[in-house]
Amino acid sequence: MIGSLLDLRIDAGRFRANFDALATLGGTPNGGVHRPAFGEAHLEARRWFLETAEQAGLEGSVDGAGNHSALLRCGPPTAPTLLLGSHLDSVPYGGRFDGALGVIAALEVLQTIKDHDLSLDTHLEAIDFTDEEGHYANFVGSLGLTGRLEAAHLQAPRGGRQQFQDALHRARLSEESLLTAARDPATLAAYLELHIEQGGRLAEQKTSIGVVTGIVGIRSFQVRFLGRADHAGTTPMEQRSDAAQGACAFTLAVRETMLAGFPGCVATVGNMVFEPGVFNVVPEVVTVSLEFRSDREANLDAMEAALRQEALGAARRFGLDVEFRHLDSTAPAHMHEGVQEAFAGACENLGLSHAFLASGAGHDAQCLAAVCPTGMIFVPSVAGRSHSAREFTGWQDCVNGANVLLHAALTLARSRPATRDTDTVTAGAGEAVPG
Ligand code: GLV
Ligand code: MN
Ligand code: MN
Repeated sequence: MIGSLLDLRIDAGRFRANFDALATLGGTPNGGVHRPAFGEAHLEARRWFLETAEQAGLEGSVDGAGNHSALLRCGPPTAPTLLLGSHLDSVPYGGRFDGALGVIAALEVLQTIKDHDLSLDTHLEAIDFTDEEGHYANFVGSLGLTGRLEAAHLQAPRGGRQQFQDALHRARLSEESLLTAARDPATLAAYLELHIEQGGRLAEQKTSIGVVTGIVGIRSFQVRFLGRADHAGTTPMEQRSDAAQGACAFTLAVRETMLAGFPGCVATVGNMVFEPGVFNVVPEVVTVSLEFRSDREANLDAMEAALRQEALGAARRFGLDVEFRHLDSTAPAHMHEGVQEAFAGACENLGLSHAFLASGAGHDAQCLAAVCPTGMIFVPSVAGRSHSAREFTGWQDCVNGANVLLHAALTLARSRPATRDTDTVTAGAGEAVPG
């Protein structure tokens, strides 16, 4: 029995048991996980999530975009839904915390509220979004749910169209079904996400919780350098049109361009594919995977223009053609002030230190921010490591984060934030049908 809601805490033992059980699915020998979207381990993790939710007495469901949900009906029948979540997919050979922590914490918050049989002004839903990491296409699940997934977005997925269609088929989804997952924003009270920081600021400052103020925008492109295949033994160096030379010159120029012109912004060449890709043929085509990030749209425009120029320059220097193919753009997003306040208030009530900070990583929250009040918190990442098996967060920090999520959810489920920061806050209003 709890005296007041302020005394309510998650069940740390159950939270840990669920986190550890999930980490075995796709677990790698060095303590990480390999759960790329729609791979066997990812599908298994999603099945585990639904089974665990249903065993806990929550209502499991899967929408047309493959988002997996556990619903706790704890509000009036027509109340909107407060979403809590993150993602169960990982980058290839990633860590066990990225995304997974937020989904398990969301589940734990629902279980805790169910354990105490609380009635709130909204329903609660724990959600696992599809392909957050963009293995096939960026933010498929959260764009689908917010109605921002466009058919055009699916024509040239970064993971390849045929591969994407095969993956959807394995998950019993289709390009058509992805476009049916949109929810009426009136049914969404807010979206809250707990995540690891994936950088080193909180650990360096010995701060327990980061309240996120905004999330970077991300653009990704394939840059194809086109040369001529020739015999590697008989073609003199000065007579080659070697696509590898252009791709590598461009990669070095990306770093110089960012350092010289865009302090605080980042750009990454994450992959190069050589064709035909053998020892004894001068490369004819090299396809470079490029992405860049900034918290300002104007910077993204300027970076895109500068990097296109660099690609042209590198191609000209080595007698090549170049094609710049756009894959994805996600806009920078601002986190809702009212949700930030709810998180900061929860930290104060729980006696946890907090700092406000921006996110350099992409998150489903940046898609949700377009349709409902949205906010995130971070917990410290040891040495800032992430997207690698070395990713680690101390368990007490994870428990602290889940308790802050719980308390912010309780606040917001009892006094819904205004849709826009400037709107008047109306407690408990909402005519919508739960999503
Ligand atoms: C997601 O983790 C991203 O920032 O790419
Ligand atoms: Mn990630
Ligand atoms: Mn993540």
